[in-house]
Amino acid sequence: MKAISVFDESYITKVIYSMSYLLNYESYVGCVSELLKSQTVQSMRRHHHHCDISCYEHSVFVSYVAFRMARRLKCDYQAAARGGLLHDLYLYDPDDKSAHPGYQCFDHPVAAWKNAKELCDDLTPKEENIILSHMWPMARHRPHSREAVLVSLADKFCATVELLHLFHVMRRRDHLPAVVKAISFA
Ligand SMILES: [Fe+2]
Ligand SMILES: [Fe+2]
Repeated sequence: MKAISVFDESYITKVIYSMSYLLNYESYVGCVSELLKSQTVQSMRRHHHHCDISCYEHSVFVSYVAFRMARRLKCDYQAAARGGLLHDLYLYDPDDKSAHPGYQCFDHPVAAWKNAKELCDDLTPKEENIILSHMWPMARHRPHSREAVLVSLADKFCATVELLHLFHVMRRRDHLPAVVKAISFA
């Protein structure tokens, strides 16, 4: 049996990967733990989003991807994580036409913004704009910060992964450990 050496390249890669994963996960949860525990945010589990992905799973996915991009680019990663988590807090069934007045594409960022303002006393103007502009360029509000652009990009990336049914494949292959852990955090 081959002994594992601390100088083995794959062993060192695995250790670095685990440390980086843990540091990123801990930092992410530090930004959003209060929101993840909130009943309002948890209630997104009841609403389906793309295919069989709940609105909650999608929002955590977007939030974590935006957080990682913002951290890598030395942006305000807390605003990206919080805004990403709240960007789809519209809290109704999109198929229920009586739940919103017009087109879902235009209506839901405004509904999410109102719910987020009600939920958070400390919602910043940057976070408000992240929520309102996440559908840009389809929706009316433009992103006013790099973090808003990152959340909008993360939303489109995650939606594509979900619509192509790749989210469950990535989850099964253990490619999304931090996202899966954050989804079951509360
Ligand atoms: Fe959305
Ligand atoms: Fe979204």
